[in-house]
Amino acid sequence: MAFHNAAPLSDEELQKRDDKWHIRVRGMEKSFGDNHVLRGVNLDIERGKVNLILGASGAGKSVMVKHFMLLLHADKGGAWVDGINVFGLKTKELIPFRRKFGMVFQFAALFDSLTVEDNCSFPLREHTKKPKSEIKDIVDDRLEALGLAGTQKKFPGELSGGMRKRVGLARALVLRPEILIYDEPTTGLDPLATYNVDEMIISTAERFNVTSIVISHDMASVFRIAQRVSMLRNGVIIESGLPEDIFHSEDAYVQKFVSTSGVVASGLRANQELGQ
Ligand SMILES: Nc1ncnc2c1ncn2[C@@H]1O[C@H](COP(=O)(O)OP(=O)(O)O)[C@@H](O)[C@H]1O
Ligand SMILES: [Mg+2]
Repeated sequence: MAFHNAAPLSDEELQKRDDKWHIRVRGMEKSFGDNHVLRGVNLDIERGKVNLILGASGAGKSVMVKHFMLLLHADKGGAWVDGINVFGLKTKELIPFRRKFGMVFQFAALFDSLTVEDNCSFPLREHTKKPKSEIKDIVDDRLEALGLAGTQKKFPGELSGGMRKRVGLARALVLRPEILIYDEPTTGLDPLATYNVDEMIISTAERFNVTSIVISHDMASVFRIAQRVSMLRNGVIIESGLPEDIFHSEDAYVQKFVSTSGVVASGLRANQELGQ
């Protein structure tokens, strides 16, 4: 079984919180009927860093990350978050556990009939007993952090696509997640909007000190935002490491993925200054 920088671990090691590794995935398998999507995934997600998951469309990237917050059950193996075996969680432990995570969807998935403020307040009203004034302060703070001050009373339809994305992120941040998952945040965006979303991911990672997991099939993002990169193919991680490891991979598929993207390794340096 290939581990690609995700070392084999004993049960005891998996059940310990690790300062460096926030999530550890070992031997994860998942089938839907005859479709054997995940075939033994081994992966480490680094705490406080931007972790990029690359892979072709349909490779199983979304399926894999859904297991991290128990939106799906693995058939075999699994994921350990801070040493907690996700699959061992009891129903009553699940809601507080899921609050570790924030999800930022491809489309902002806002309620069109609610104002920006009400959209962002929603998770706090659902999951906490905080008084209205405190909820307002938190929402104002997140909107301000994302350059959205003054949009409180606007409706999503009145905002640009890029702004709606940032509102989606502000909403994901109100509960102070430790881990942010962005599933294809730039798919379908033009280059400038893509650049802005990438900037937003980096600045949010720094400002809120979160562990970021970014799912993408865009090599350009590798050198713009990633501090770790892992590639999923045929149900396993075939390469994992620093961005330069991907560029210098000996795996033929990774090489092809890199060469057809038009991204060159010389672009890597800019990122290292930006991202560290
Ligand atoms: N809930 C589901 N039921 C059945 N098949 C699914 C389900 N979710 C995903 N799949 C299948 O799993 C495979 C991987 O999907 P996905 O993780 O969405 O790929 P991607 O890498 O593009 O995110 C696809 O073949 C998809 O059809
Ligand atoms: Mg997907």
